[in-house]
Parts: sequence; structure tokens; C-alpha cells
Amino acid sequence: MTTQEPSGKIRPGEVWRDSSGAVIQAHGGGMLYHEGLYYWYGENKNGITQGDRCDVIGVSCYSSADLQHWQNEGIVLPAVPDDPRHELHPTKVLERPKVIYNKASGAFVMWMHIDTADYALARAGVAVSSSPAGPFHYLGSFRPGGVMSRDMTVYQDSDAAAYLLCSSDNNSTLYIFRLTDDYLRTTGSGARQFIDCYREAPAIVKEGDQYYLITSGCTGWDPNEAEYAVADDIMGPWTVKGNPCSGAEAGTTFHSQGTFILPLEGRPGAFVFMADRWNREDLADSRYIWLPLRIQDGKITVHWQEEWDLSTLGGSKL
Ligand code: DGJ
Repeated sequence: MTTQEPSGKIRPGEVWRDSSGAVIQAHGGGMLYHEGLYYWYGENKNGITQGDRCDVIGVSCYSSADLQHWQNEGIVLPAVPDDPRHELHPTKVLERPKVIYNKASGAFVMWMHIDTADYALARAGVAVSSSPAGPFHYLGSFRPGGVMSRDMTVYQDSDAAAYLLCSSDNNSTLYIFRLTDDYLRTTGSGARQFIDCYREAPAIVKEGDQYYLITSGCTGWDPNEAEYAVADDIMGPWTVKGNPCSGAEAGTTFHSQGTFILPLEGRPGAFVFMADRWNREDLADSRYIWLPLRIQDGKITVHWQEEWDLSTLGGSKL
């Protein structure tokens, strides 16, 4: 299958539907491009919000050739309602799933934040599948290098090395761990970065030889100002640059919180900033904010637009 040029209007913050007309449930999401299709994984929050949370339903997956029309691939990692002690029981927490593909083993590896409802467990969970559309088999969770792990992302570098970036030490510090070659575990004790900075929701991208990391502050479901940092080495040191956002509501990341930076396939330099506009009263109705992300002269800018077209993303065509 060949990739279709992404085209069509994006209206950040509106209700987005899949090809069957159902509202897309893929919060705290991430994207994987594989053999002509984009796979969008995220938290299915299509339940009742009670006291700032809703029960775990599982990880949803949607696929699309053009980033505009999304086919629901179903819940690829479902909750386990029958066993109250299971880490995927609906009373627990499963957030920010991200999937990377291990070419050597042929496995699609999902990493996610696994927690108890009081967020005290603070672990990273891992699941695997032989297909991008699942089903994923849950392997379990652990504290990487023995430290807490809450908001997280995984990043696969151009040399196939992969990394876990996670908020740790009660969210005060961000750790970066290199994964094992099979992507199933972390190695070593990690790089301790952003010490006492209280950053979460990491979203990372590489452009040229530089890594760029956007994070949020720690204000629960309420939005705050994003900040980005740059580094020559993913393990650090990271240099904080400031708020990448501009335009209306730039001080609250457009009333949202980042989750992923999507590089467009076959268009070097074209990126989409993906964020969640959480609705803490009704988490199922949280909306998606996608905006063009531009990197120029070492600087990121994400400018607010009510509506934009995917075909205008720029970048150079391969
Ligand atoms: C902020 C995190 O980024 C979200 O993923 C979620 O854990 C909320 N906090 C819960 O309040």
C-alpha cells in the first residue's frame, strides 16, 4: 500500500468521528506509521466520569491512510473486568499508550502508564502484538530502574534504538531510559533530567541532529503552559527554550495538554502536534487538538488555527 497525501480539514477541538460515525476515543494517544497506514492508539474513555476519573475500558486503535478518515480497529488492549487484582481491572489507571515496531523481532510493542486509582503504583506497562491492529498481549508492569513512572512516551530513533521518557520522583523529575533491543524492558538507571521541574506529558521529535521535547506542567486535567527543550543527545543535557505555542490561548497550550508529535511519512520536516483538551467533568468528551508544528533555526512554533488543511503542512517531499 502507498501512502496517500494527507489532505482535508482539521478543526481542533471539534467532535471527531470515525468512518462509522462514532466519536473517536483515543485520548493521551500516539501514532505509529506502518506499511501505508497511520495507527492511532489512545485511551478509550467512553464511560462515566466520577470524581475525576473514569474506569479503564482499554486502548483503542484507529487506522487511516490519509490522517482524515479513521477506521475503528477496536479495543486492541481491553480492560480485565473479571479479576479485581489485575493491573488492567477497570478500577485501575491505564494512560498514554504508545506503540513502536521492532523490525528485528517483528513485534509491535505498546508502552503505557499503569497505575492504581490513587496514582501510587506509578509504573510503566508493556504489551505486545504481532499485528499493529492487535490484539495486544499484556506482559505486566514495573518501575523502570526502580523509580516511579507516570506520564510517559516511547521514542524510536533512526538507528532503531528506543527510549522511554517518563515523569518520575512524584512527577518532579523526568527520566530517560534506553530500552533493551527487544523494546520490552529498560536498561540501566536512566538519565535524570529536568530535576525538580515538575514536567509531564512528554512528546518528542528529532529534526536533523537535534531532539525536541515538549512537556506540560503538572495541573491534573487542567491545562497549563507548554514548554520545550532541545538536546544533541536524547539522554541530555536538555536546554529549556520556552513556550512553543502562539496565538489564542497559547498560555494554556490552547486549553490542552500535549501527547505526541507526529512526523509525516515521506515529508521530512512536516510535523503535527497532538494534544488533548481534557474535559474533567466528562472525560469521554475530551477533544483532540492537532496543529502544525514547525521547526526552524532550532525553534519550535505551534500556532493556533481554528481550521487548517493537512496538505499545507509543508516539509520537503521525498
Ligand atoms: C495529567 C496527566 O498528564 C494525565 O495523563 C492524567 O494522568 C491526569 N494528570 C490525571 O489528573
